[in-house]
Amino acid sequence: MKLANSKTYLNLAKSFAGECQARTRYEFLEYGARKQGFVALADLIDKVVYNEFNHARMFYTYLQDACDCTIDNIDICSGYPFKEKWNILDNLKIAAENEEIESTKVYPEYAKIADEEGFPEIAELYRNIIQVENCHHMLFKELYEQMKNDTMYCKDEPVKWKCGSCGYEATAKSAWECCPLCQAKQGSVLLKISDGE
Ligand SMILES: [Fe+2]
Ligand SMILES: [Fe+2]
Repeated sequence: MKLANSKTYLNLAKSFAGECQARTRYEFLEYGARKQGFVALADLIDKVVYNEFNHARMFYTYLQDACDCTIDNIDICSGYPFKEKWNILDNLKIAAENEEIESTKVYPEYAKIADEEGFPEIAELYRNIIQVENCHHMLFKELYEQMKNDTMYCKDEPVKWKCGSCGYEATAKSAWECCPLCQAKQGSVLLKISDGE
């Protein structure tokens, strides 16, 4: 079967559209976080934005490689979520839910179809992206829980905090309100997970 005549071709186009939308939705989230002073959170979301861009780029590349000529138009009929409001907490929850649907339902189905239609390389691409979307799901879920329970900057046990602006580090249960070295606000504080980060 030629890719251009397959369901996988349309699935690639739908996936490209989905990734572009996910990217934009996370830009909304990043914009809101930065505006409210959550600088470290915004920087983290920026990394997810870039992941989605690269997923979109890979889907686009496979579509382009399927045709010798310019693709004028691909008619796709597909539903996409439009649940976001302008609230960081709600949007983190929605982002976690969307990532879960993508990684457990939509992309596994597209991978299965790609295999059935004889496109193992594309099936593998979907499986590799599923791994990332699952990490996005866990990340957004964790951020949502921390924000909801007020534990983003306050832990039960002492942890190592790092200023995202100047690199100052300290071990304590709570992050500082204002960095003792550079005076950056709490929104710039990162939780230091390992010595490499
Ligand atoms: Fe993605
Ligand atoms: Fe994602």
